[in-house]
This record gives sequence, C-alpha cells and structure tokens, in this order.
Amino acid sequence: MRILGGWHEDPLWASVYGWLVEHRRVGGVAWRLGLGTDLGLLYDAVREVGRLPAGSRVLDVPTGNGVAMRGIVPGQGLDYLAVDISAPMLGRALSTARRLGVDDQVTPVVADAGDLPLEDRTVDLVASFTGLHCFPDPHRAVAEMVRVLRPGGVLTGSSMFTDTGLAHAPARRMGTLAGVLGPMCSTRELVDQLAREGCREIDLHLSGGLGYFRAVAS
Ligand SMILES: C[S@@+](CC[C@H](N)C(=O)[O-])C[C@H]1O[C@@H](n2cnc3c(N)ncnc32)[C@H](O)[C@@H]1O
Repeated sequence: MRILGGWHEDPLWASVYGWLVEHRRVGGVAWRLGLGTDLGLLYDAVREVGRLPAGSRVLDVPTGNGVAMRGIVPGQGLDYLAVDISAPMLGRALSTARRLGVDDQVTPVVADAGDLPLEDRTVDLVASFTGLHCFPDPHRAVAEMVRVLRPGGVLTGSSMFTDTGLAHAPARRMGTLAGVLGPMCSTRELVDQLAREGCREIDLHLSGGLGYFRAVAS
C-alpha cells in the first residue's frame, strides 16, 4: 500500500482518515489537535439526512468512509447515492452502511465530483462533508452539486478553506504536499458562487480550520 498519494490511489492516509472519522474518542482528539474543531459537529450536521421523507434522493459526495450514513434511519426509504472517486473508499463506505443496517438504501457510484453522472434537478439533499478541499476544482464540484439539486433542495457540507486561519496553514500545506488536499477556495468565494448559482438562505460558519455551509437551491 502507498503511504502518500492522491485519493484515487488509496494511500495509507485514506484508511487512517476513515478510521479516525468513525471513532469519536480517538478521532475527536485528532480533529481537535489537527483542525481545532469538534468531530461531533460533523455527526450533528449529518442528522439532517434522517429528517427526509421516504423516497427522497440524497447525494453524498464525497462519501469517503460513509460517515454521513450515520444520519440515515434504518427503514427510512431513502434513495441514497454514495459517490466517491475511490473504489476502495466506496468499499469501506458499504461496510459502514452494512454496520448501520442501512445498506438497502445505499447505491455506491464511482464518479468525479466535478462530473456527476446525474440528471439536473433530481436530488433532494446533497451532503458534501470534508470534501471540497480534496477536489482539484472545488468550484466545478459546487456547480455540479447545485445543478443536480431540485428547487428547494439543500446543499449541506463542510470543508477547509484557504482563509480558515493561519494556525491551520501548516495542516493545509502538509495535506497539499501529501497529495490529499487540492487548491481549496476561500469562504467568500464559496458564498459568492452559491449566490451566483441562485442559492438562497446561504449560511457558512467556521469552527477551527473547518467551515460548515448550508444553502437552499432555487
Ligand atoms: C476527507 S474524505 C471525506 C469523506 C467524507 N465525506 C467524510 O466527511 O469523512 C475525502 C474523500 O474525497 C474523495 N475524493 C477526492 N477527490 C474526489 C473527486 N474528484 N471526486 C469524488 N471524490 C473525491 C476521496 O476519495 C475521499 O474518499
């Protein structure tokens, strides 16, 4: 196994990240030390998935280890698309879905966030946690996420941003050098893009080195 490399190469870091994000006690310490934020905020944010009515379509991109699936309620009747560029990551996400008893609602799809194989306006909720900072072109990915949302559909997620504090600059730099982080965008750039794409109720708030965002498609 490679130690470093891009996500599509499934480096050791990908398994380590996946394990940490699923283990609140140890992962929580790592998130506090590395990102200055509470991993519990991520767990809280994914609960929005569990409030959707049966038949809703969710796009989880990038799904990674499948942490957002802890928001799915067993028997909820969602059409949950778990999208990631890495097939090994999707394998881990499916294990998570089985462990949570929600695998009957989950369809794994290997795809690039910047080129989603989905029709326009077909998704009720896009969950994009800890993802934008990994993409080679975050703006293209955001445009795709908004494109597939139905009017009134919700985009919710989190990311590192270029302006989330000097204290987190070394982590950003190390991630970029290791090949796991992309160029990222600033908080202002994301908010402006969402407004340009016609989103409303745009919210972005910071917690340490992460920004949590939410917007509603028009
Ligand atoms: C830090 S993990 C985050 C995953 C998960 N949402 C979470 O919060 O734990 C980043 C994921 O982005 C995926 N990824 C990286 N570039 C991608 C791209 N262009 N399209 C889709 N997924 C990508 C990686 O394979 C990895 O699983």
